Formats: sequence, structure tokens, C-alpha cells
Amino acid sequence: MRKKVVLVTGSSGEVGHALLEQLVLLRPEGVLSLDLKPLGSQLAGDFIHLQGDILDRELLDRLVSEYEIEEIYHLAALLSTRAEFTPDAAHRVNVTGTLNLLELAAQQSEWSGKPVRFIFPSSIAAFGLPDLDTKARYEKVREWEWNYPRTMYGCNKLYCEMLGIYFSQYYRQLAAEQPPMLDFRCVRFPGLISAFTVPSGGTSDYGPEMLHAAAQDKPYACFVREDVRIPFMAMPDAVKALLDLAHAPLESLSRKVYNVTSFSLSAADFRDWVLKYFPGAQIDFLPDEKRQAIVDSWPADLDDSAARRDWGWKPDYEVERAFSEYLVPNIRQRYQEKATV
Ligand code: SER
Repeated sequence: MRKKVVLVTGSSGEVGHALLEQLVLLRPEGVLSLDLKPLGSQLAGDFIHLQGDILDRELLDRLVSEYEIEEIYHLAALLSTRAEFTPDAAHRVNVTGTLNLLELAAQQSEWSGKPVRFIFPSSIAAFGLPDLDTKARYEKVREWEWNYPRTMYGCNKLYCEMLGIYFSQYYRQLAAEQPPMLDFRCVRFPGLISAFTVPSGGTSDYGPEMLHAAAQDKPYACFVREDVRIPFMAMPDAVKALLDLAHAPLESLSRKVYNVTSFSLSAADFRDWVLKYFPGAQIDFLPDEKRQAIVDSWPADLDDSAARRDWGWKPDYEVERAFSEYLVPNIRQRYQEKATV
């Protein structure tokens, strides 16, 4: 008998790390984690970690011979800034990697006779507004609007959303008997902010970077203009969105891809929140024209009413609570502990 597990890819990344903490509580002994890197030492719990590559087909074949994979959280990806420097590698990881996992899920669904749930985080990078006037006019963008990404990462995410829909509705549509297909569910995240990890390789990173720098008493030069606005979310809400969507009854879902968001801030608003808790913070604005253009193309806010209506999505942390109860106390503790080590 193969052991039944939930598979998490990209488990040592920011979202993976936070999700794993919750999943080991929900599914003790049934979590399989896969990442190129070892896991951070702080992660405790009963789970199996495999260090390996989602592009390694032999490894994936070995996985299905040893485990019955019932659910997949496929988080592994190269983010938007990094992907611009290595577009070919980004395409391989973000697209071929996702295709490998979708095929694995399809195969598992066929064997077990029931749909494997495939949870996929997409991003505001799947949108692309052509100019600042349009961005100002379409403040809260809905899922199907402005799907014209201008980054490799955004193109990869948008295409993989479509692949997910294809695999869950049309895969092997010409076969005499169509096997049970996987159950693909996707959230489009805004910029995520964690108190425990600092992001790397993204273009929304200026928010969390500003905050983590202030907590360490380091000066920070923000790489976008003060006025640019995008939506954000605290990491516990990102994990909640993934888990809530995963556990929503299928019949309540009217879409496969849902916007989710929490609060929208300009870079100046973000600085002001940071200054409220770290009044001595040294924050300058030194826009990088190219990264700025990417953030300019992302929506100022998202319309997440479909998620609210269909599966009761509601963030726990609006901006005030995100800073006062989650970000600031945990970040303070994190750097105090580091300072005393
Ligand atoms: N945080 C992502 C990035 O900056 C966007 O979703 O690439």
C-alpha cells in the first residue's frame, strides 16, 4: 500500500514555509515536501522532505510509485524580477515544472478514480495594464480583465492557469472514455508580506524589504516611486486563502481562478505604516525605471468579490491589524533574537 500524502512543492520558499507549518497540523504524518533546497531549521513537525527538482521526471515517477498523492500545493516558481534575468530557466521551472505536476496529478486521479486537488498560486503579475491612466481608471480589476502580462513570470502564471483549467475539464477529451480529471483551483495573490522571511526575486518586494530593513535599523532605498499603488496581503492570509479554497465544496465554485486580496497601499503609504512603528527608519525613494514599469502595469487593487461570494473568502488582517498584530511584533522579535544569538 502506498502512503497517502499531500504534496507541497516549493516548500522552502516564503509561502511554502508558512503553508507547511499549517499543513503538518492538519495532516500529521501525511505531508510530503519537495524543494531544491533543504528546509529552514525552524520548521518542526512530522513530514517528509525531499530535496529535488520538479523538472526531474524520474524523481516524480519515483514519488508516485511510493506515495498516493491526494492533493498538491504547487508553489515552486521563479518570481518576476528574477525571471526577467533568466527567462528561459523561468519558463522551464514555471511552465514545464507545472506541466509535470499537472500530468502527475492527472495520472494519480486516473489511478485512484477520484480527482486529485491541485492548488496553484497565481499572481497580480498575470495582469498588465497598458499605462497609468488606465491603471487609475480600472482600480479594482476582475479576474478576466487586462490579462496582458508584461513579464515572463506573469505570462507563465497566466498560461499555467489555462493549463490547469484544460487538465481539469478537457484533458484526453477525445479518448473513448475520459478518466476522472483533476480538481484545479487557483488564487491570484497580491504582493505578500511575511514577518518571518524576506522575499527574493519578486518585484513587489519593496514593501517587505522596507519593513525588514527598518526593523534592523538599516537604511532602505525603495526601487519604485512613492505614488505607485498595488494590493498586498499578510502571509497568514495567503495560507488561509490556499487552505480555504482547497477545502471549499466543489459545487460552490463558479470559477477555477479567483482574485484574493487584503489591502491596497501606495509605496508612500507603506513607508508611513513602517514609520508609525519604526519612527527612526531611513527610507528613500530611488526608482529603478525598469522595475517601476513592471509595478506600474500591475493593478492598484483587485476585485475579489467572486472569492468572497463562492467560498467565503475574507482576510483576517486588514492593514492596521496586519502591521500591529502580525508584522511588527514578529519582526521585532525575529531581529531581537538574531541580535542576541
Ligand atoms: N510577488 C510577486 C513578484 O513580485 C508578484 O506576485 O514577482
